[in-house]
Amino acid sequence: MTNAQGISELVINRLPRYHRFLGELLSEGVQRISSRELSERMGLTASQIRQDLNCFGGFGQQGYGYHIEQLRAEIGKILGLDKQNRAILIGAGNLGRAVASHMAFESKGFRLIGIFDKKEALKGQMIKGLPIRHIDDLDDFCRENLPSCAILCIPKADAADICNTLIGLGVKGFWNFSHCDLAVNHPNVAVENVHLGDSLMKLSYKITNL
Ligand code: NAI
Repeated sequence: MTNAQGISELVINRLPRYHRFLGELLSEGVQRISSRELSERMGLTASQIRQDLNCFGGFGQQGYGYHIEQLRAEIGKILGLDKQNRAILIGAGNLGRAVASHMAFESKGFRLIGIFDKKEALKGQMIKGLPIRHIDDLDDFCRENLPSCAILCIPKADAADICNTLIGLGVKGFWNFSHCDLAVNHPNVAVENVHLGDSLMKLSYKITNL
């Protein structure tokens, strides 16, 4: 599957990993790297790396390799990490609190601006410097603050309704932890479904097949 720019989803899936590895190399003081060395560190083939990066115009130089800081900045730009998408979180339970407290939103292109829950008793409690607001305030808040993204940490049964409401309020992207694969019939809406259990089942498969 390719996106509107003709880039395969498999390549896009690898970009955050390139970004992370290049960040680690930079923090170790490494300034340049050949595709062979990078491939050894990442467990990919050198030709795979060259092919991936060629989708965006290359970046490497024959005999020099990759300038790590430049390549990381370019990949960051492709991923849109230089933007600060305004995000709201719905569902301030165990998972929502963990996500709000521990995710480094700013370095990933997002800024958390609001947290909502339907439990009256949670209203006003602070998480990461933000007050939990009642879900009834969602409408007014969105009209005033124009979030472009929502993080859903609510039960499956409520996810589709909240998603539709938020689309009506101009939200364009969903980081969806609710256990449903949101099938959103809006061409301009992006959804990333996160299922930690899927990853665990993959591990189970790998252990079973060692
Ligand atoms: P929780 O029960 O601790 O928190 C859920 C919160 O959502 C509660 O505070 C509740 O008041 C609020 N809520 C429910 N409906 C709402 C609505 N319509 N509007 C606003 N707030 C609403 O549950 P927990 O552990 O935080 O899990 C949340 C969801 O995430 C669950 O459905 C769970 O199955 C799922 N989950 C998903 C994982 C994943 O990998 N995708 C991993 C763990 C949990």
